[in-house]
Parts: sequence; C-alpha cells; structure tokens
Amino acid sequence: MGTSGRSQPSFVNLGLTLIVLLCWFLLLIGADSQKTHPAEVNALRAIKKSLIDPYQNLGNWNRGDPCTSCWTGIYCSNTTMDDGYLHVKEMALLNMNLSGSLSAELVHLSYLEIMDFMWNNISGTIPKEIGNVTSLTFLLLNGNNLTGSLPDEIGYLGNLDRLQIDENQISGSIPKSFANLNNAKHFHMNNNSLSGQIPPELSRLPLLVHLLLDNNNLSGHLPPELSKMPNLTILQLDNNNFEGSTIPPSYGNISCLSKLSLRNCSLQGPIPNWSNMPNIGYIDLSLNKLSGTIPTDVLSENMTTIDLSNNNLNGTIPASFSRLPLLQKLDFQNNKLSNISGSLVLPSNVTVSLQGNPICSKGNLIQFCGSYEEDFSSMLNQTSSNACLPQSCPPPFEYAPASHPVRCFCAAPLLVGYRLKSPGFTNFRPYIDKFEHYVSSALDLHIYQFEIDSVAWQKGPRLRMYLKIFPAYVNNSINKFNRSEVLRIHDMFRRWKIHGNAVFGPFELLNFTLLEPYKDEIPSSSPSGITKGALAGIIIGTAAGSVTLAAVVFLLFVRSHTRRHRAYSRRRPSSRVSIRIDGVKGFTYGEMSVATNNFNSSSFVGQGGYGKVYKGILADGTVVAIKRAQEGSLQGEKEFLTEIELLSRVHHRNLVSLIGYCDEEGEQVPQ
Ligand SMILES: *[C@@H]1O[C@H](CO)[C@@H](O)[C@H](O)[C@H]1NC(C)=O
Ligand SMILES: *[C@@H]1O[C@H](CO)[C@@H](O)[C@H](O)[C@H]1NC(C)=O
Ligand SMILES: *[C@@H]1O[C@H](CO)[C@@H](O)[C@H](O)[C@H]1NC(C)=O
Ligand SMILES: *[C@@H]1O[C@H](CO)[C@@H](O)[C@H](O)[C@H]1NC(C)=O
Ligand SMILES: *[C@@H]1O[C@H](CO)[C@@H](O)[C@H](O)[C@H]1NC(C)=O
Ligand SMILES: *[C@@H]1O[C@H](CO)[C@@H](O)[C@H](O)[C@H]1NC(C)=O
Ligand SMILES: *[C@@H]1O[C@H](CO)[C@@H](O)[C@H](O)[C@H]1NC(C)=O
Ligand SMILES: *[C@@H]1O[C@H](CO)[C@@H](O)[C@H](O)[C@H]1NC(C)=O
Ligand SMILES: *[C@@H]1O[C@H](CO)[C@@H](O)[C@H](O)[C@H]1NC(C)=O
Ligand SMILES: *[C@@H]1O[C@H](CO)[C@@H](O)[C@H](O)[C@H]1NC(C)=O
Ligand SMILES: *[C@@H]1O[C@H](CO)[C@@H](O)[C@H](O)[C@H]1NC(C)=O
Ligand SMILES: *[C@@H]1O[C@H](CO)[C@@H](O)[C@H](O)[C@H]1NC(C)=O
Repeated sequence: MGTSGRSQPSFVNLGLTLIVLLCWFLLLIGADSQKTHPAEVNALRAIKKSLIDPYQNLGNWNRGDPCTSCWTGIYCSNTTMDDGYLHVKEMALLNMNLSGSLSAELVHLSYLEIMDFMWNNISGTIPKEIGNVTSLTFLLLNGNNLTGSLPDEIGYLGNLDRLQIDENQISGSIPKSFANLNNAKHFHMNNNSLSGQIPPELSRLPLLVHLLLDNNNLSGHLPPELSKMPNLTILQLDNNNFEGSTIPPSYGNISCLSKLSLRNCSLQGPIPNWSNMPNIGYIDLSLNKLSGTIPTDVLSENMTTIDLSNNNLNGTIPASFSRLPLLQKLDFQNNKLSNISGSLVLPSNVTVSLQGNPICSKGNLIQFCGSYEEDFSSMLNQTSSNACLPQSCPPPFEYAPASHPVRCFCAAPLLVGYRLKSPGFTNFRPYIDKFEHYVSSALDLHIYQFEIDSVAWQKGPRLRMYLKIFPAYVNNSINKFNRSEVLRIHDMFRRWKIHGNAVFGPFELLNFTLLEPYKDEIPSSSPSGITKGALAGIIIGTAAGSVTLAAVVFLLFVRSHTRRHRAYSRRRPSSRVSIRIDGVKGFTYGEMSVATNNFNSSSFVGQGGYGKVYKGILADGTVVAIKRAQEGSLQGEKEFLTEIELLSRVHHRNLVSLIGYCDEEGEQVPQ
C-alpha cells in the first residue's frame, strides 16, 4: 500500500521529517556542550546488549548520544546538571517485543526515574543492582517472563511510587524490606508465583492505595496488621492458599477500603463485622470455607456487589440489603442459608442468587433461586415428551410437547437457533412461561407448538436457545408444516417481525435448520423478501422498542485511486496493519459482490452517512446489510480500523451489530 499515494502517510512523513530535523538541530547545537554522562551511555549499551530485539526497535541505539540523538525510548534531563552532563530520566521500552534479560549495568543509571519495560518477553531475574537506582519512582516490569525472586534491594528505593511486576513468573516470598518503601502507593504483583506469607511489615506503608497480590501461591495467615494501612482502598488477594487462616476481624475496620476481594483463598471462620468500612463498595469472599452467619450490620451505601457464594454460611439473610441504593449483585449461592429476616425488597435490576441454599425449598423465593448457572435441564424437563410411550416416532418425526391437546402425536419440527442478546434478567426461570407465550403468539402459533429444546447462558451475558417449532395437530394427517407456513415462520424470524419486548430485549437468529421433510422448502438462493423500509430501519435504528434480529453490517471500503494498483493488489503487503478483532469476520470483495448481485440497484436500500447501503444474502443464507463506503468519503486505514473496532463493540437493542467487514487490499479492497 505504500505506493498508493494516500494523504495520511504524507502527514506522518512530514511529522517524522520534522522530528528528525529537530534531532539534528539538537545534535548540532548540543554537540559540544551537551552530552549524556559516559557511564550512562555505557550502561544503555550494556542493557541493549543483553536484550534480544528482533524488530530492531532499538536500532538507533548505535548512533550518537542517547540524550541528544533521540535514542528510542530514552528521555533525559533537559539541561546539563552540575557535573556538566545530561542524565537519563526515563526508559520507555514498553511493547517492543524485547526478550533476553535485564543487565545489572542499569545500576549506573543513577538519575533514572521511570523504568518501563511493560509487555515484552524479558526473562531472567530482576537484578539486585536495581536497588542502587534510588531515583526510581516507577518500576514497571509487568507482562514479561521474569523469573527468580524479588531482590531485597528493591526495598532501598525510597522514592518508589509504583511497583508493577504483575504477570511474570516471579517466585519466592515478598521481601520484608518492601515495608521501607515509604512513598509506595501501588503494589501490583498479581499473576506470579509468589509464595510464603504476606509480610505484616507492609502495614507500615503509609501511602499504599492498591495491594494486588491475587493469583499467586501465597500462604500462611492473613496479617491483621494490614488493616492499619490508612490509605488502602483495594485489597485483592484472590486465588491464593491461606489454608486454615481466617479473615482478621480488623479487616472490617479499613476505613478507606472500597474493594475487598478474597475469592478462592481457602479461608475459614466467620465474616468480620463490616459496618466500619464507610467506603466499601465491592466484597467478594466467594469460594472459601467461611462459616457462621452473614453480619446483620448495615453496609456502606456505596455497596454494589456482595459475593459470598460457595461457602458454608448458615442462618438468616439480613433484609437490610434492601436499603443499599447502588446494589447490583447479591450472590449467596451454595451456602446453608435457611431464612430471610423480614422481606428482601430489591429493584429488579439487582441480581440475587440464592440457589443451592435450603431457603430455596421455600416456594416464595423462586425468582432468586436461579442463576447464570441455572440448571436448565431440570427446568425444561416439564415440557419434554417423557410422558409418551417409549415407542419412537419414525425420524425425522418426534413427539410434540406433552402439553398439546392430543397426547403423543408424531410431528416434524423446525429447528431454530435463537439468542437473546441483552436479556433484562439474570435468571431465566421466572420468565420461561412469559417467553413461550411471547414468541408463540408473535408467530401466531399455539403454545403447545413451541418448545425450548435447550438453553445456555453465554458471555455478555446472552441467552442462547435452540427452539423446536411443531406443526399444529390435525387429525388423520401427516403432521408437518406446509411450504408457505415454513416460509412464513422463517420470514418472521429473519425479518425481525417478532415485535419488541422490553424484558427479553433484542434477539438474533443463529440458524434455521430444515431437516427432512422440509429440506428443499427454502431455496438457498432465493432473494429475501426484506423490504427497503425494514432494512433502512435496522440500520438507522429508529424503530424504538422493536426487536433486532440477526443483524449484520458489513463495511466495504472501495477507493478509486487504489484500484489502479489492482494488478499487484492481491498480495497483502507485509507492512499492512492486519485486522484482528474478536467476533468480527473478514469478507472478500467477491463475497460481497455475490451477496448483493454485484451491487445491483435492486439490492440498494438506502443512503447512509458516507455510503450506500445494500441488502445482501451470504452464501449461508444470512441476510445482511452492507454499507459500501463512497469514494472520496474514505478515512485512512487507521480510522477504518478504529471504526470497525468501535462498531464491533457497540451493542444496542435498536442497532444492528457488526459481524464482518471487507477491506480489500489493492482496491484497498481486499482483505
Ligand atoms: C526542564 O525540566 C524541568 C523539570 O524537569 C522543567 O521544570 C523545566 O521547565 C524544563 N525546562 C525547559 C526549558 O523545558
Ligand atoms: C511485535 O511483534 C508483533 C508480531 O509478533 C508485530 O506485529 C509488532 O509489530 C511488533 N511490535 C513492535 C513494536 O516491534
Ligand atoms: C520469549 O522469549 C523466549 C526466549 O527468551 C522465546 O523462546 C519465546 O519464544 C519468546 N516468546 C515470544 C512470545 O516472543
Ligand atoms: C549499590 O549499593 C550497594 C549498597 O548500598 C553498594 O555497596 C554498592 O557499591 C552499590 N553499587 C554501585 C555500583 O554503586
Ligand atoms: C518464558 O520463557 C520460557 C523459557 O524461559 C519460554 O519457554 C516461554 O515460552 C516464555 N513464555 C512466554 C510467554 O514467552
Ligand atoms: C491471572 O491469573 C488468572 C488465573 O490463572 C487468570 O484467570 C487471569 O486471566 C490472569 N490475569 C491476567 C491479567 O493475566
Ligand atoms: C493518604 O494519602 C495522602 C496522599 O495521597 C496523604 O496526604 C494522607 O496523609 C494519607 N493519609 C494518611 C492517614 O496517611
Ligand atoms: C462513597 O464513596 C465516595 C468516594 O468514592 C465517598 O466520597 C462517599 O462518602 C461514599 N459514600 C458513603 C455513603 O460512604
Ligand atoms: C450454623 O452452623 C453452626 C455450625 O457450623 C452451628 O453451631 C449453628 O448453630 C448454626 N446456626 C444456625 C442458625 O443454623
Ligand atoms: C436500579 O433501578 C433503580 C430504579 O428502579 C435505579 O434508581 C438504580 O440506580 C438502578 N441501579 C443500578 C445499579 O442500575
Ligand atoms: C427429567 O424427567 C425424567 C422423567 O421424569 C427424570 O427421570 C429425570 O431425572 C428428569 N431430569 C431432571 C434433570 O430432573
Ligand atoms: C444450529 O442449530 C442446531 C440445533 O437446532 C445446533 O445443534 C447447531 O449447533 C446450530 N448451529 C449453529 C452454527 O449455531
């Protein structure tokens, strides 16, 4: 694409040229008077030597002076100091695909304040010499492959504000010397292999705000002293093994704490009185062996989330939770809770999970006794046809649902993959009947013709279902839909004719499977009956309250001036930014062309902001809206990618969602 003569690159080039000129200028005027301290130059050379730099990101570290020749990632004091030299203040080498190890020669960077090697692949240990660089305020080594233990010498870094070593393979214990880091505010050490006890001495840290030690192998008891940290707001220790330890009662008095997360820590004993945490908003004590009762003390009004699931708590659920105005989630599942004091009155937007508790055997709480991990098998059992004789219907016929007017007749169902994209509930159980009535009446079917075959929560959370739709019973007849009925039901789904519903929200059609005897009833190449009005409505998303079905937008960007390069454009130049966005597919120009009958005017449904919109049918029958960018309205590649990524993240009940794009190379088309 480099030769395609875009305007953006010329701006970039201009910018680069200016920077280069500026560097030369600085180099020239500074050539005699300004130089980096020789010890630091040597240290940087040694650091580079011990790193592996496959992309030559440090390629310019060979030439000239670090501070005046603009070495990548090196930032210096802006004037010479008393010793007549410039000094390196910052190394910003994040995300540069560096491997290799950290050289002990960094000890000579005596003015370094920020050492940033985040998101590389550096291995080996953290050299103990780092403790001599006492000017350090930020030590950022997260997202590497560092091993070995943490050097005690880090504790000498009296100016350190932020220590980030998370997401490495660091082992050994947390040095007690860290308690000397009087200026430390942030300790991020999660996702390593740290072991041993959390040193009680850390409680001496006056300014520490975040202590993240989750996902390590820490053990021993939880030091009660941590509660003395005056500024601690997040204490996150999940996924460690404090076998036999209890939660110190003093943890209920951490006055600044807003989040306490001790998930899966092998803790036992009672939950501390939590009424002395005026700022607490989030408590996760799930997956432990906590026993006793839930404290009746009133929690902070800032409380949004309380997860006490999977413990051995018994007794009563305090109704005082009803008074928490910001509450979003109460998860008490899988305990031994047997009662509720008073009545738990909560707005419907609060997720309450009580299942797996004896209290759920009391029928009046049924709406709180399902969850994300709802046992769909048992709740759907009622509609299955197990009451019929064990003789089987000849395939593809099967027993229609048991509740129909005639018992056990054989019929051939339509199979529909269907998904609620943003359901207004977290537990489906209370809504099953409503849902069956909603869809079957929208489809103009009897309730007995409708069966939910399986249900599963998916990420989002979204609710995926496979539905079976049976023909109505007709005496002395082969019970199957006729062709026009099949087409009608198919159209209801794929043309978003099922009216909107606030509780169930938008849905999408995943598939519409026609087994025998329907196999040939919908010719795969038949143009859909989708109307211009319907599709335009989907795109601009005005039909308030209407339900959006399998909604799809493709973006196709075609540039006239790049077409000239079509001859070689089918090869993707290696310099091209590659697009990889989860859940978004790439399509070829050819596929788009076939889907729209070569962008035929009969497929044209409307004009959008900067291009025309066509309806199209993919090879698999999915109906899609295709937006084709107009010539001259194009953005640069970066903007294009940004837009694709943005669209892929936008989900709203009145908006179609992006499932793919076509950015074909050459015609900048290509893919
Ligand atoms: C040099 O840096 C100091 C802080 O390090 C800053 O206050 C000062 O304005 C800078 N001088 C120039 C000329 O940029
Ligand atoms: C890092 O490596 C990836 C491929 O592994 C490459 O796409 C990316 O451009 C590299 N980044 C840098 C700054 O070298
Ligand atoms: C990380 O570096 C090691 C060698 O130090 C190498 O074997 C490994 O492939 C690298 N991983 C990545 C993702 O670059
Ligand atoms: C680093 O610090 C230690 C102890 O403070 C000292 O003994 C050692 O000489 C220092 N090393 C260098 C290279 O300055
Ligand atoms: C970490 O380093 C080891 C070798 O020391 C290597 O096998 C492994 O792939 C590296 N991990 C990553 C994520 O690069
Ligand atoms: C930390 O480790 C946990 C457990 O292995 C993992 O689920 C989580 O994704 C990791 N977090 C990060 C940021 O790597
Ligand atoms: C908490 O931190 C702030 C600075 O961030 C500091 O001024 C304050 O004194 C600290 N609180 C206590 C009790 O030390
Ligand atoms: C909620 O938190 C904010 C700070 O995040 C704090 O100012 C406020 O006082 C808290 N409210 C209560 C009721 O504790
Ligand atoms: C809760 O369980 C404990 C034993 O773990 C028992 O002593 C106590 O009586 C139980 N309380 C209630 C209210 O069931
Ligand atoms: C829940 O809905 C109520 C109104 O019914 C609202 O005031 C409250 O802010 C909502 N809570 C959350 C967490 O969205
Ligand atoms: C479903 O019903 C059958 C027959 O009544 C029964 O054997 C089976 O255990 C039920 N399944 C569940 C999960 O309850
Ligand atoms: C289509 O639906 C059937 C069930 O009706 C299901 O087994 C299959 O996995 C679905 N396929 C897709 C791609 O969702």
